[in-house]
Amino acid sequence: MGRVALVTGGTRGIGEAICVALQGAGYRVVANYGGNDAAAQEFSARTGVPAYKFDVSDFDAVAAGITQIEREVGAVEVLVNNAGITRDSTMHKMSYQQWEQVIHTNLTSCFNTCRAVIDGMRERGFGRIVNIGSINGQAGQYGQVNYAAAKSGIHGFTKALAQEGAAKGITVNAIAPGYVDTDMVRAVPPQVLEKIIARIPVGRLGKPEDIARTVLFLVADEAGFITGSTVSVNGGQHMY
Ligand code: CAA
Repeated sequence: MGRVALVTGGTRGIGEAICVALQGAGYRVVANYGGNDAAAQEFSARTGVPAYKFDVSDFDAVAAGITQIEREVGAVEVLVNNAGITRDSTMHKMSYQQWEQVIHTNLTSCFNTCRAVIDGMRERGFGRIVNIGSINGQAGQYGQVNYAAAKSGIHGFTKALAQEGAAKGITVNAIAPGYVDTDMVRAVPPQVLEKIIARIPVGRLGKPEDIARTVLFLVADEAGFITGSTVSVNGGQHMY
């Protein structure tokens, strides 16, 4: 039987593509989602991937959710921290709530999920963790001090945990997607998005599958020598 893989924010957008790719490669995939029940039901009915609802920003909810997954499906050996939100606003208009929601959902979530799986991975001597960062965590982005800080934090988190996991067979890597064709990017004002696309050398938005294939590469059993790295998948928009 394939390894159990948990993908947070796995029922839509990039997360959905990651689930489908992992399933196609023989993993036993479990998706987490936070709010959109209708999308999650439709996703599970279409793919056969079970979807577990819990708020990744809530430490206790994550602990309970992962305990349930491990009881019902099996020990999580592959973890993809993909769940993320935007609350874009320039600093002078940003509320504390917009800051806090993004930091907790995008960054504290990585602590919450990793904390719940790390003991088991250490005991079994194997683990694959992939954290989804962002081009905007590498380069910054007008209107995103919250998001850029959280995503930048993910890149530091990845390198620190990679050092801790290395001797225990646990690899920890990040992917920094550029602008990918999802609901999140479609919410950017059209005149702003047009200018962004004009700056992508490949000349198009990314596809969720562009990110999914990178996840597959990083989580493979054979990828044990790749850890602490960030793979940029951005059509050449930012060469870091
Ligand atoms: N650089 C410089 N100036 C900019 C700018 C930029 N990137 N974007 C906007 N401005 C300027 C505008 O030209 C405008 O200037 P003028 O008043 O002189 O014309 C001024 O800032 C105000 O712009 P808006 O009218 O858009 O102001 P707003 O308050 O209504 O909105 C905003 C500001 C929320 C930042 C909005 O511009 C926005 O949503 N921008 C998109 C931000 C973005 O790229 N988010 C990424 C989301 S996708 C994602 O995050 C996924 C991922 O990982 C890549």
